[in-house]
Formats: sequence, structure tokens, C-alpha cells
Amino acid sequence: MKFFVDTADVKDIRELSELGLIDGVTTNPSLILKSGRDITEVTKEICDIVDGPVSAEVAATEYDEMIREGKVLAKIADNICIKLPLTLDGLRACRTLSGEGHAVNVTLCFSANQALLAAKAGATFISPFIGRLDDMAIDGMDLIREIRVIYDNYGFETEILAASIRTVNHVKEAALIGADVATVPPATIRSLVKHPLTDKGLEAFLADWKKTGQKIG
Ligand code: E4P
Repeated sequence: MKFFVDTADVKDIRELSELGLIDGVTTNPSLILKSGRDITEVTKEICDIVDGPVSAEVAATEYDEMIREGKVLAKIADNICIKLPLTLDGLRACRTLSGEGHAVNVTLCFSANQALLAAKAGATFISPFIGRLDDMAIDGMDLIREIRVIYDNYGFETEILAASIRTVNHVKEAALIGADVATVPPATIRSLVKHPLTDKGLEAFLADWKKTGQKIG
């Protein structure tokens, strides 16, 4: 399973990238707002840090303008993945831009039928939003499960990018189901390593090692 980091915070991206933990980045207009940076400038900086796909989202809602904005974003770097909303115009733009060889991430997916349409439109990634469904008392993981079955039934190559991940259990469940990618906030990526028995075990090993009076090397 690939890990993308869901942020436009360059400091976090740099740190996680140095740890070798991330395969790409996803941003959205809300994350750009949170970063307080200019979209072109911050996206360029992110693309210089990370080799994998960096999703940058269009703000337009109509086809012609989506195409124009998508092409502007794609010029930022070779690893840009154009992020388009799951609307009819977005799907049409997905067909055009993917047909021209651009990587496309279709975002704001909340149903299996939407995911089916995105795959038929040639999306590179489909982004089903788990956390926002959970917020409405609908199990977001059921959506990942349904999309996995549908994509496998028909051999679609569109990758399932589990998004709106809020917990470490979301990551585990999405991995068990077979999502291709999870885009995860920086704090949740860091939480994946934590286990109290690891901390306790390490503490005991270090205490015993001290008692040996030895040094390695
Ligand atoms: C996906 O690409 C989105 O950027 C993101 O996962 C949305 O997450 P949220 O529901 O926590 O805002």
C-alpha cells in the first residue's frame, strides 16, 4: 500500500519524506488555505521534495475552465496529478486530461457508482472520503470495500486512494480491504508507529543493556 501525506505543510512533508515514509502528496483548497501560501509556489516546493504524485486541485466548476486550470497546474512539475471534483464537468475534464496523458485524481467520491464513473473516465486515482461518511454515521469503509469489488470485477486500473482518513484504524482497515493508496494527515502517519508495548520493551532492553556495562563497537 502506498502512503500519500494529506497536507500542504512543507515542513511536515520534508520530515516524512526524509523518513522514507511517503510515496506522494495530496492537497486541496482547504489545505492550501491552511498553509497560508500561494498555490503555485507551495506546490512547486512540494514537487521538489517528493518524487511521487502531488495532487493539486482545480477551483473551477465548469469544463473549459477546469481544463485551463488543470493545464496551468500540470505545468508546475512533471509529478503533478490534477485533482478534479466528481461532477459531470469533472468527469468530462478527467476524460480529456487523462486522454492527453495527465495523471488525474477524481476527488469527493462518496458512492460506488461515482467511483465506477471515474474509472470509466480514465481517472488515475479515485478518492473516496472515509471520515466524512463516518461523520454522517455511514461506514466509510463499506465504500472502499464496494469500490474494490467493482474495480476488480472489471479490471479497472484506477487506483483506490482512501481519503479523509482520521484514525490509525482507518489506515489498517483500508489496507486489509486492499485500497491501493491511503492519503493520511501527518500526525496520523506518525501515530502508526506507536505501541505501548514497543515503548515498554525498549525501556527494559535499554535498562538491561546498561547493566551489562558493554559498548557496541
Ligand atoms: C483528499 O485528497 C482530501 O484532501 C482529504 O483527505 C480530505 O480530508 P478531510 O475530510 O479530513 O478534510
